[in-house]
Amino acid sequence: MIKSPCRQALLASLGALAVALGLAGPLRSEEGVSPGVQAARVALGRRLFYDADLSINGTMACATCHEQRRGFGDGNATHPGARDDPGRRNVPGLANVGDFARLTWADPRQTSLEGQVDVPMLGHHPVEMAMDGHTDALAERLGAQPCYVTMFREAFPDEAARPDYAHAARAIAAFERTLVSRSAPWDRWRSGESGALAPLARAGAARFARDCASCHSGVDLTDQDYHRITAQDGADAGLMEVTGRAEDRARFRTPSLRNVAVTAPYLHDGSAPDLASAIRAHAAFADADAVSLGQLSAFLGSLTDHAFLTNPAFALPMEACGKPL
Ligand code: HEC
Ligand code: HEC
Repeated sequence: MIKSPCRQALLASLGALAVALGLAGPLRSEEGVSPGVQAARVALGRRLFYDADLSINGTMACATCHEQRRGFGDGNATHPGARDDPGRRNVPGLANVGDFARLTWADPRQTSLEGQVDVPMLGHHPVEMAMDGHTDALAERLGAQPCYVTMFREAFPDEAARPDYAHAARAIAAFERTLVSRSAPWDRWRSGESGALAPLARAGAARFARDCASCHSGVDLTDQDYHRITAQDGADAGLMEVTGRAEDRARFRTPSLRNVAVTAPYLHDGSAPDLASAIRAHAAFADADAVSLGQLSAFLGSLTDHAFLTNPAFALPMEACGKPL
């Protein structure tokens, strides 16, 4: 048995090493949390993110819908829940989600990653992991595994935490904050590497800056605000569902376009099968011609960050507590 100060020092140096090797995203420690504890928290959150024990019948993990190779989105229009309840909205990617002030397509109450965990775990509209009323059972399930008991204690040493829902949510949020995608060709081009974008994508970048960046603004290509882009009303009331205000009908949060080329299908309902149809779904660009669609699609392709999609630090963990999982 390793004594705990020793073990913390070991975790701290492993965390620092992972950052130095570029394996992890920058490990931004939460306030007052040492790098070693932060690394333990992220490791726990990562394991939980991939663990189907977080759903009522053990069939569904966060990663079932949020797949790394698809930018942590998935390939379906919508995704049914663990008990086959139909999904309602398209699964968004999770790149740079730690920097978002507003989460989900159209619920302005979702402002923290810790709180957002309630949506898939406990939500009823739709039912996804179906754990409402079963968080005690979850604590028992996890608490019956000695390795989880160790991991929770190491992740929250000041609280001598036992496995429970609240600490699980905090650890998952810590893992999500490491999902940083900032090394796409577009990032390299912006930092002065002129050859990082081909001429077609450069033409697309200019067009995008002129026509799209009013909403798809900033480094994550979203203003984090709600807009209505279509002329007709669809089945989903969007922001109005929460605010009750008629002018919010069919308003959705501008999605980030990071890794967008690998997250098809598109829009809140997954109704656009490819980038060209997603662009033409904006009433303002319904008549976009083939040349501009080609330029814009090439630009959007330059937002694909292969290092992010294949970073082993974000993948299904292969071991925990020094043993293979
Ligand atoms: C059944 C599929 C499914 C599962 C399982 C699932 N999600 Fe999601 N996730 C979604 C969908 C769909 C949305 C968009 C919901 C909306 O906007 O109404 C979403 C949205 C999110 C967002 C907001 C992203 C953004 O851009 O604002 C985060 C963060 C997130 N999920 C994390 C998680 C975590 C953590 C888990 C596991 C505890 C999880 N998800 C499990 C489907 C799923
Ligand atoms: C008025 C604000 C606004 C402008 C301007 C705008 N968009 Fe959008 N865009 C949105 C919103 C809001 C959505 C989500 C709509 C929905 O899901 O129904 C969206 C969705 C998208 C999507 C789908 C992303 C996904 O993950 O589902 C793509 C791609 C896209 N926009 C590209 C563009 C391009 C390219 C332009 C310029 C030609 C553009 N947008 C201009 C607000 C805007």
